[in-house]
Amino acid sequence: MKVGIIGSGGREHAICESIKKSSKIEKIYCFPGNAGTSEIAENIAIDISDFNKIKEFLISNKISLLIVGPEKPLVDGIVDFFKDTEINVFGPDKIASQLEGSKIFTKKICEIYKIPTANFGIFENCNEAVVFLDKTQFPLVVKADGLASGKGVYICENKDSANTAIKEIFNGKFGIAKNVLIEEFLIGEEMSYFIISDGKEIKNFETAQDHKRVLEGDKGDNTGGMGAYSPSRLINQVLEKKILNKIIEPTIKALKKMGSNYKGFLYAGLMIVKDEPFLIEYNVRMGDPECQTILPKLKTDLLEIIEACCNEKLKNLKIEWYNKKSLCIVLCSKGYPDKYNNNILIENTEKLDLAKGDFIYHAGTKKIENKIYSNGGRVINFVSLSSNFKESRDKIFNHISKLNWSGGFFRKDIGYKVIDE
Ligand code: AMP
Ligand code: GLY
Repeated sequence: MKVGIIGSGGREHAICESIKKSSKIEKIYCFPGNAGTSEIAENIAIDISDFNKIKEFLISNKISLLIVGPEKPLVDGIVDFFKDTEINVFGPDKIASQLEGSKIFTKKICEIYKIPTANFGIFENCNEAVVFLDKTQFPLVVKADGLASGKGVYICENKDSANTAIKEIFNGKFGIAKNVLIEEFLIGEEMSYFIISDGKEIKNFETAQDHKRVLEGDKGDNTGGMGAYSPSRLINQVLEKKILNKIIEPTIKALKKMGSNYKGFLYAGLMIVKDEPFLIEYNVRMGDPECQTILPKLKTDLLEIIEACCNEKLKNLKIEWYNKKSLCIVLCSKGYPDKYNNNILIENTEKLDLAKGDFIYHAGTKKIENKIYSNGGRVINFVSLSSNFKESRDKIFNHISKLNWSGGFFRKDIGYKVIDE
């Protein structure tokens, strides 16, 4: 079987490596992929927003399954675009993808179905929003409605910073803004909870704890994710039941009423407040770096799981996991998430002899004449599975020191809550 993967990050390299293990795989194509995927698949330089070009390529190369890594093509309706073709596209349709594409869409579902989430208000103009600031408490959270590449969320300690946030959003910093969302600030611990669905059945796809801030001790700017560990230290059967009953199931039901059967991965970003889950946001895909952290624990053939989803046969499939602790550290370009340089040579990759349970997933890398160069803010993901998180982290430190890349930096405290506290 020939499979296409859309995306170029660590998440997509991890998916590529996972499905490569399947005996059914004949060839994998990555659109556009990175230096890591080029080792095990063919990278195709197609603009991923050009669905017609992708379709032409898939048909002429007899590719029967397309796995979509990032949110943008899903929100733009790639699943609907391929509806009348023989090609299976793994991911949710355009209606369901609004869960990530519009925070206000999700909040409205929460309101109707009484899904626990931060109290909120939707404001259609700057004045209305600013007037509201006079009668509220701080901190609060100001959010742009649409996709903002991990930005567009402001935690505001006071009126001044909230004013600035509202103005930036209405001035179009994240695209044309018809409204702004203002939310209560929740105090608790975050957790990423994943499910996979075939439109009929949902199955747990593990938990993780991301580290979004750029600096140690969870300080500094938000990033796409500097590292993660799985499972989350918070998960237990009682909490999981609450997440499913109070958050996931009502959401799936709401989408069904709108005519959409959710297919694909669904990632719930949660805040756990005194053992109660609150929905912060949905993503209609796997997380990055959560995907790299979780997939090495998967015992069951990923391709078989994805095929079962496409064929609505997930019910009959048992998804099995290794009972291990997985930790991921992301090596980033110096300067990320602000300004950084690309095209910095990465040497010493041949010195990294990976033991069983160790994995390296490329993200922002490219290969030129057999040499690897940086090509993005998040560059290489190091993942290790062990019986405890400290051992996983120590093994990663060892690899990163062998790589000795002077262009990069990483957070040394990933997993501090489960290792150092
Ligand atoms: P998001 O892009 O929605 O994931 O938001 C980015 C980050 O902002 C989240 O990971 C949280 O750390 C934080 N955040 C968002 N909404 C809230 C909220 N209502 N209360 C507390 N923190 C929040
Ligand atoms: N790690 C956060 C995300 O994938 O959105």
